Amino acid sequence: MIIKNLNQKFITLDNLSPYQKFIRIYRWNPNLNLSPWFSIFPISINNCGPMILDALIQIKNKQDSSLTFRRSCREGICGSCSMNIDGINSLACLKSLNIKSNFITIYPLPHTYIIKDLVPDLSNFYAQYKLIKPWLINKTNFSLKENLQSKIDRLELDGLYECILCACCSASCPSYWWNQDKYLGPAILLQAYRWIVDSRDNYTENRLNFLNNRMRLFRCHTIMNCSKICPKSLNPGKAIASIKYRIVSS
Ligand code: SF4
Ligand code: F3S
Ligand code: FES
Repeated sequence: MIIKNLNQKFITLDNLSPYQKFIRIYRWNPNLNLSPWFSIFPISINNCGPMILDALIQIKNKQDSSLTFRRSCREGICGSCSMNIDGINSLACLKSLNIKSNFITIYPLPHTYIIKDLVPDLSNFYAQYKLIKPWLINKTNFSLKENLQSKIDRLELDGLYECILCACCSASCPSYWWNQDKYLGPAILLQAYRWIVDSRDNYTENRLNFLNNRMRLFRCHTIMNCSKICPKSLNPGKAIASIKYRIVSS
């Protein structure tokens, strides 16, 4: 097999070294009157950092400075480098470059509006996050200084507070693909549950009333892509099931 690289030179792909990778990246620039296209960039893992994000940074520094993607922490904390890598929504900074295949295909998060290249428009996602009032609400027993919790109550937040709002789960959920204007999606619902189970918060009934809606919550059909894909190994599907249980059993 033979392909053309960026300099229009032909490269033969027979007997490729396992250290040689080709990164195929979805491109789109709103300022060019062009349909989306793919760029293919050669990378040798011998002179690149270990992760996909390292390859993207090297490509931007050495091969094509117009390549656009989000990143910040490079250690799975900020949630900004989420993208679809070889068919799986992932964090580029946690995904190894050293995989078996010589080819790696990268798209932006699926079913999102694209700002440029690998950068999705997450305005709707953040507007939905605001809707669930993601802060402590306690009108009767609240101290500006310190609100204590027992160790057992604090344990309830494990598996929820670690969510970094990367949107990998929501962008993998078919219900969210088709109804993201009304359905809140797994990431926002997991965040909502994080406040519902917080023992220091007493806005629980209002939170549940807000979620008790055919589209906002019950559009989840337990497909469970969300829990399979979460790069932080969280379980949004379980959090959603817990909210549904609280609503139907109250
Ligand atoms: Fe990302 Fe996981 Fe949070 Fe979903 S639950 S936003 S996949 S960290
Ligand atoms: Fe979607 Fe997860 Fe529910 S994939 S349908 S949010 S269980
Ligand atoms: Fe922060 Fe990847 S750069 S999560």
